[in-house]
Amino acid sequence: TTTSNKTYFTSGAQGDSQHSYRVLDTLISLFEQAIRKAFPEDVTLPVLVVPGRQTDYQCNSAMPIAQKLTAAGKKIAPTEVAKIIVENLPKHEIFGDIQFSGPGFINVTIAAAFVSEQIRNILLKGILPPNVLNIVDNHGSQGEHKKPKVVIDFSAPNIAKEMHVGHLRSTIIGDSIARLLEYVGFDVLRLNHLGDWGTQFGMLIAHLRDKFPEYKTKSPPIGDLLSFYKESKKRFDNEPDFKQRAYECVVKLQAFDPDIIHAWKLTCDVSRQDFEYIYKELDIKIIDRGESFYQSRMIDVVKELESKNLLKLEEGRKVMYLPDIDVPLTIVKTDGSFTYDTSDMATIKQRLEEENGDWLIYVIDSGQALHMQSIFAGARVAGWTKGKNVRIDHVGFGVVLGEDGKKLKSRSGETIRLRDLLDEGLGRSMAKLKETDRQNVLTPEEIEKAQKSVAYACIKYADLSHNRNSDYIFSFDRMLDIRGNTAAYLLYAYTRIRSIGRTAGVDQATLKATAHDIELNFEIEERELKLAKCIIKYADIFTRVLDELLMHGLCEFMYQLATTFTDFYDRCYCVEKDKVTGEVRLNYRRILLCEATANVLKQCFEILGIQPLERM
Ligand code: ARG
Repeated sequence: TTTSNKTYFTSGAQGDSQHSYRVLDTLISLFEQAIRKAFPEDVTLPVLVVPGRQTDYQCNSAMPIAQKLTAAGKKIAPTEVAKIIVENLPKHEIFGDIQFSGPGFINVTIAAAFVSEQIRNILLKGILPPNVLNIVDNHGSQGEHKKPKVVIDFSAPNIAKEMHVGHLRSTIIGDSIARLLEYVGFDVLRLNHLGDWGTQFGMLIAHLRDKFPEYKTKSPPIGDLLSFYKESKKRFDNEPDFKQRAYECVVKLQAFDPDIIHAWKLTCDVSRQDFEYIYKELDIKIIDRGESFYQSRMIDVVKELESKNLLKLEEGRKVMYLPDIDVPLTIVKTDGSFTYDTSDMATIKQRLEEENGDWLIYVIDSGQALHMQSIFAGARVAGWTKGKNVRIDHVGFGVVLGEDGKKLKSRSGETIRLRDLLDEGLGRSMAKLKETDRQNVLTPEEIEKAQKSVAYACIKYADLSHNRNSDYIFSFDRMLDIRGNTAAYLLYAYTRIRSIGRTAGVDQATLKATAHDIELNFEIEERELKLAKCIIKYADIFTRVLDELLMHGLCEFMYQLATTFTDFYDRCYCVEKDKVTGEVRLNYRRILLCEATANVLKQCFEILGIQPLERM
């Protein structure tokens, strides 16, 4: 779900000294100019430009335009429309050959000189982000150069309960989106909406007080919080007076009773240590701001909604009805306590009004789609988005399945602990490395680094390379396979590319100097030009992925780039030995293409939160 009245991604397609050129977006804007100029009477005529199969890009507008004009009584053939569009195209360095094909298709080849220039930019300036941010911001003139702010809510496990694969998905997807946003220049606030305020704390605290009465002076040994939680749950279900005390604890907790708060902190800390291990291993940065943070804000939200007459009393509950949604939000329960709905009404208000977010993102499983939709509607009804130019997204995702196609479970049928999952990944990746005797090639530090890099890259990439909206099957065998669109394949491809420059003995300084001076005529060799054209697609890809928040588009591009590279490398030698004289000759033009490929891949890895290896 997207609620948006703001587009970030229109201007700046042509790049500048700090931004990369977006090839496709530039073409779209050129064709748009042509179509509007040729047919000024109807500004809704479609501008369709897409990457082509037989050609670099293709404009498919002529057919629908001809249909529309003909229907309006101005009969015209698609081929005629195509001719008129091309006549009206502005002159531009990007255009190579332009051809007509079929009933009005316009095939565009990108000029080789233009491609070379972009490759040179990559080599000299690095992988600059696309320019997607020169937008009007919310804060008027005084905030002219202020970066737009994104508040992204992801990971969000629950204290005392196990952090499970669903949270892993949210963590991986959220981190990657945050990395992309940071890279293109947003001010990103990464929030961990920990479940740290629910009714489970009543049981936990009551149980803690019974079992470790001296908890205030001595830290209780509750390392295994999950079994501690299970014990307390059992008592809760079987001992009426315990249940009573548990409820009292919740009330006292929400009233910030100091003793109870102390016990609450103890249990939270144990859970946090567990979570932090996972975040550290996976290189995830996130700020803890759990449900407890919103307690006083929830009280205010209820007051505000009441004063705006938006709450209705229904069987003792205070509910909020929303346009076009059947189920109302439950804001206050019969016993006076708040719900998940209340807390998310508080998060959205806080993020809009206190954080001044320009873009709010919630990375939460698709099972909560209705909840999120209701919260977004609730915020609108409450008037919190009024006059604001904000974009709000629920980034949903499917369930993680086991290889049997059912919800992922451990062999004994329990939910898999994330820590165990990571450990298994590490074991498997080491086994894989040993299959090719890497332990004899790499130093002990290098092999340990490789082990982690491969394991975590595979876990992250398997998740990110699938369309997040569908369920995906978790299979170590598949993710560690070095064939196909896997992290193992890409990591291997990357190190191979990096080794080319090393083998040739060319250092970075020489590469830079050469990139500056050399004539980069990729036209000589078809495969070079094809690779170069693939490389320069990244800025368009980053932009689309950002707009749709679908990371698999980036993974598909990486795979396409790696296979295009293989095609090139199999035929085009970078280092050649003269058969007669034995003299070694370096083809710098090709070595530079390798370098550009590796740099783009590296930037993609970075966005996905994957650490590639220079040597493996
Ligand atoms: N803790 C919740 C869960 O495990 C996810 C919270 C997501 N964030 C939010 N603002 N609702 O399902």
